[in-house]
Amino acid sequence: MCLYCEASFKQGSPNNVAEGLNASVPAPIVPAPPLATQGLPWHAAVDDAVAAIGEARREHGDTFATCHGRDRYLFTFTAAGVEAFYALPEDVASKGVADYLMLRRKLPDELFDGRRTLPGTLFRRGDVAVYLATLESALDATLAELGASGEVDVFDLTRRLGHRLGLASWAGAAAASGAAFERLVAAFDVLDGSDAFVHPDAMAAVAASGKAAETAALEEVVAVVGPLPPDDGLFGRVRAAWADEPDEDARRRGIGLDVALLHVASMSNLHAALGWALVDLAAHPDAVDRVRSGDADFTGRCALESTRLAQRSIMARTVLAPVSFSDGVSTYDVPPGWTIATLLPLLNTSAAPGLQDWDPDRWDRNRLRPVDGLASPQLVTAFGHGRHTCPAQPFSLAAMSTAMTRLVAAYDLEPRWTTYPAPVAAQIGGVARAAGPVPIGYAAR
Ligand code: HEM
Repeated sequence: MCLYCEASFKQGSPNNVAEGLNASVPAPIVPAPPLATQGLPWHAAVDDAVAAIGEARREHGDTFATCHGRDRYLFTFTAAGVEAFYALPEDVASKGVADYLMLRRKLPDELFDGRRTLPGTLFRRGDVAVYLATLESALDATLAELGASGEVDVFDLTRRLGHRLGLASWAGAAAASGAAFERLVAAFDVLDGSDAFVHPDAMAAVAASGKAAETAALEEVVAVVGPLPPDDGLFGRVRAAWADEPDEDARRRGIGLDVALLHVASMSNLHAALGWALVDLAAHPDAVDRVRSGDADFTGRCALESTRLAQRSIMARTVLAPVSFSDGVSTYDVPPGWTIATLLPLLNTSAAPGLQDWDPDRWDRNRLRPVDGLASPQLVTAFGHGRHTCPAQPFSLAAMSTAMTRLVAAYDLEPRWTTYPAPVAAQIGGVARAAGPVPIGYAAR
């Protein structure tokens, strides 16, 4: 999943809406859908979050509910249900509020309050070209760090590259080098909102600590970003948004928190998707040759295909006003406070035969080619459907393609994993993170 659409900030913070919803237990859905006893990983100890929802689906069919405390989820997996899901209007069933309810398990509320530059505004005309130019410098630094040969963990490599690219893009070149970069990397590795869905089982401990480590990391980001020099890229836009704040401390703090939110949003998926793209590429020598030959269209399709296969996203909309929701079999009256959801890993690779294979040619640019037996094209996705489709898709695919091309042009890669890497089992959102080390050897060509 991804986060922070503007609609959820209209009232200053999605917290305002969420608090209202949390005040009472939601009324029941009419007619009552089947109720699954399987828990979600925030509520109960779950070894494999996706497998648990898959088991509930096998027991109860394609539409069912789960309840825990005040939390109420209506899951749907039918073609009509998934299409109706993507068509839900934000003011009736909100993605922003659903994301916020998940992320606040990890992130301090202050990060969301009063933001002036939101992740949904990062991709205006001309922005992507600037970020991609930044990516070339980030890749220069990455190749210099790698040297002529060695072994590296694929996901450590792509995470550090993602930090470098993001921080240079949102906070200027000075944020992506030297001591400032290292301090920001350390802080953002603690202030990582994706922990809320990658390690949901760790959120009880985060709550018990009062988010102490996360709050300290946020203060560190503010301290490092404050003195950074002005920049005429996005950092200039962030600073301009705060130019009318007369109090210098409040201005610096606002700028630091805006950068923090932008970077946390960018950490959700991109580095992990690039990691899987490199894993899949390294396992397909013919594809490496095509990428090396400069076939940009093919490289983009490789990136998209790896992202599809690695999707662990829960797609969720929190109901704000009563809504009638049809899954093609039944029509449910869903009251406010419920979250309507579907889960990509239970659809992307199994909604029709053959979808479990890595095949970049199943894409025609960014569109899935017709698949025999697929009841709806919306049952498969990498970047979403409908109005919440990821605004960063063109940037992300271009960035992944550029990084893949530069790395295989510079190095011969030798996979050193014995079996295909497994995702973190408890993860229930975003692109998969690897459960263990994924070493790869590299040697300059
Ligand atoms: C490979 C990388 C990425 C993948 C696979 C991805 C995936 C997605 C998906 C599936 C959605 C729709 C979720 C839903 O409908 O519930 C989404 C939305 C979104 N993404 Fe991404 N994303 C990626 C990179 C990024 C980056 C780098 C950013 C920002 C820095 C970003 C910002 C957003 C925002 C703001 C939304 C919400 C749009 C809205 O609600 O209108 N994404 N993303």
